Amino acid sequence: MAVAIPFVKKTLQLIKNSKYLFWIKTNEHIAWALSPTMNFSVGNKQSNLIGIDISSTSVKLLELSRTRTAYRIESYAVEPLPANAMNDKSLQDIEAVGEAIKRALKRSGSKKKFAAVAVPSAMVITKVIQMPAGLKPAELEAQIQLEADQYIPYSLDEVNLDHQVIGPTEDQPNSNDVLLVASRSENVEERTAACEIGGLTAKVVDIEPYTIEHTCKLIQQQSDVDWKDKTIAVLDVGATMTSLSVFRADNLVYTREQPFGGKQLTEEIMRRYGLSYEDAGRVKRVGGLPDNYEPEILSPFKDQIVQQANRFLQFFFSADQNDYVDQILLAGGCAEIPGISELIEAQIGTPTSIANPFANIECASGVAQQRLQSDGPAMMIACGLATRGFD
Ligand SMILES: Nc1ncnc2c1ncn2[C@@H]1O[C@H](COP(=O)(O)OP(=O)(O)OP(=O)(O)O)[C@@H](O)[C@H]1O
Ligand SMILES: [Mg+2]
Repeated sequence: MAVAIPFVKKTLQLIKNSKYLFWIKTNEHIAWALSPTMNFSVGNKQSNLIGIDISSTSVKLLELSRTRTAYRIESYAVEPLPANAMNDKSLQDIEAVGEAIKRALKRSGSKKKFAAVAVPSAMVITKVIQMPAGLKPAELEAQIQLEADQYIPYSLDEVNLDHQVIGPTEDQPNSNDVLLVASRSENVEERTAACEIGGLTAKVVDIEPYTIEHTCKLIQQQSDVDWKDKTIAVLDVGATMTSLSVFRADNLVYTREQPFGGKQLTEEIMRRYGLSYEDAGRVKRVGGLPDNYEPEILSPFKDQIVQQANRFLQFFFSADQNDYVDQILLAGGCAEIPGISELIEAQIGTPTSIANPFANIECASGVAQQRLQSDGPAMMIACGLATRGFD
């Protein structure tokens, strides 16, 4: 999660013994959390780390710097992962992922030594608990250590745990709401170990929907549309996972993910046309399939994306007091499918556009501009992680 500077210190120190790992964002910290992103009053600034999104099919690397008025891309690389390196979002072959990070780092030309990585929200347990007000930080921590096992369905030896005081409990002046966040240590350690093999030290372990929140801020800075007070739904359709993250007035208010993605389309192309996984993935992007591809394979897959979008929104509406979103931002590699955002807009009736954090961003020379633009919608997490280098 994001971001307050004292937590950066705390996490940097404690990530070594794997006890604390997350930045917890609560309402009281939001303004502070966003200020490094929004306030460009300082001069050119180099980041102290690079963002590494370890997705189910590739490693995506991004390094940003910040000028007086905007971000600038210093380096970038997307390195495909071998077929069995990941099992959805778990690292099945840490060595192979580490080697892919090493290749991505080399290709990008970045000289950075530190990285920010993220765990998916499905690997994180959050719980708001009540604790006596007036406890000193050390006392609160000790109390949480004593009580946390009631709330976490794993042994505390097996989890990385962090907490953040949210504020006074409603109608209970002697009590504070405290947010507990936990993830199984293996989720964190497998990512930090892969970074180590790749030649990087993971200094930040974030949570995926919160990285998307950072990227949304960046997109907003580049656009004329005022999203203040608006409800924005980011639908990320990746290779194996689809996630919906809903932001209202810049706050993440809802997130959900489900196994669905472009890999299903790739597999259908393999089956129909007898192609290898690599070839099917390539022709999907560059074209060259027979005439029946569009009506018989692509079009039904696009309909499936619309159905997924609809279902995700219905889930959100049933959990929220409102039953609308103002705007859908379509992200992930499947956002590149021609006509998909128009189809979602027409079928669902909500304005829909493609999220591209790099639409109006300056790049260092040597960054492959065209590829960067087409990869932009799939770089939401890497981009959010890269912005963490300015905290
Ligand atoms: N132009 C395109 N047309 C169709 N599909 C595309 C295109 N470009 C990318 N894709 C598909 O998008 C998917 C990759 O998207 P993305 O990079 O967002 O996934 P990921 O982050 O690796 O996966 P996940 O988030 O599920 O772990 C692949 O299935 C790829 O084939
Ligand atoms: Mg992804």
